Amino acid sequence: MARNKVTIVGAGNVGATTAHWLIEREVADLVLVDIPQVEGMPQGKSLDMLQAGPVMGYDAQITGTTSYEPTANSDVVVITAGLARKPGMTREDLVGRNQEIITDVIQKVIPGSPNAIYIVVTNPLDTMTYLAYKVSGLPRERILGQAGVLDGARFRTFIAQELQVSVENTHAFVLGGHGDEMVPLPRYSTVAGIPITELMTTEQIDRLVERTRKGGAEIVSLLKTGSAYYAPGASVAKMVEAILKDRKLIVPCSVYLDGEYGIKDLFFGVPVKLGRKGVEQIVEIKLQPDEKIALDKSVELIRSTMSALKL
Ligand code: APR
Repeated sequence: MARNKVTIVGAGNVGATTAHWLIEREVADLVLVDIPQVEGMPQGKSLDMLQAGPVMGYDAQITGTTSYEPTANSDVVVITAGLARKPGMTREDLVGRNQEIITDVIQKVIPGSPNAIYIVVTNPLDTMTYLAYKVSGLPRERILGQAGVLDGARFRTFIAQELQVSVENTHAFVLGGHGDEMVPLPRYSTVAGIPITELMTTEQIDRLVERTRKGGAEIVSLLKTGSAYYAPGASVAKMVEAILKDRKLIVPCSVYLDGEYGIKDLFFGVPVKLGRKGVEQIVEIKLQPDEKIALDKSVELIRSTMSALKL
């Protein structure tokens, strides 16, 4: 049986780390692409990862390239190409340059892999995924943005630390845009099935919610040279695996909404079912009035970022 193929565009921190997490899972052979200006870099990283195979015990292949030919007939394409934040920058500051990059990437990768499922990671996430959707003409089931798995993982990390429990016991529910107005939902966030609202004070929960919202910025300010990549890469790998194994995994992702949650013509983070066909279902939940207000604020932030797009 032919193996699955996953292309990762952008061999920088997020792209290479995604490849690193993914190759060990052996769910596909990988192609790591970057621009000709960095010729040798994707090839070098790929060869290095290949040579870890005998030590770690995987046989998956990985090819580094600056041409799109080896990407043809990919099952999944992950787009991490673009600028990352530096201290003091918001995700929204990246729109102009990343619009050019996303447009370039889509035009080059789509012809060889018109049937793939596309996962966008480039920030500002919801806006760049919308752009990729428009430029590509893909059906909405086959294009989504990675945000909620990462935001949920950050919330889960903080919950586990606060209550001194295993991260495995935690479950977190985060809705909304991948920005400071994201909406973590404490009443649906649990430890061993128990809502955290029964395990923590409001003050504790508010503190963790705030830290989750600013989770990306906290890492940017520590690194000083760029933004997070280990947890983002792991989150993408989880999504890719769910798609290729047709797991029907329900996770929050940025998807095109056409009336769901009362939102139209926007990519927005909501729970979806991921399987071999991509986004197989959008899960709608009833929101309380305060949650709806928070969601509306998040929509507003994305719409204002979107207004900087030149479509
Ligand atoms: N085509 C392909 N690759 C490109 C292009 C392009 N047109 N333009 C830039 N790149 C590549 C760069 O050469 C670089 O190797 O994208 C890579 C980006 O890597 P980093 O600078 O290390 O950035 P990274 O931390 O990986 O973040 C990438 O993901 O999480 C988001 O906010 C983050 O938007 C940023 C993106």
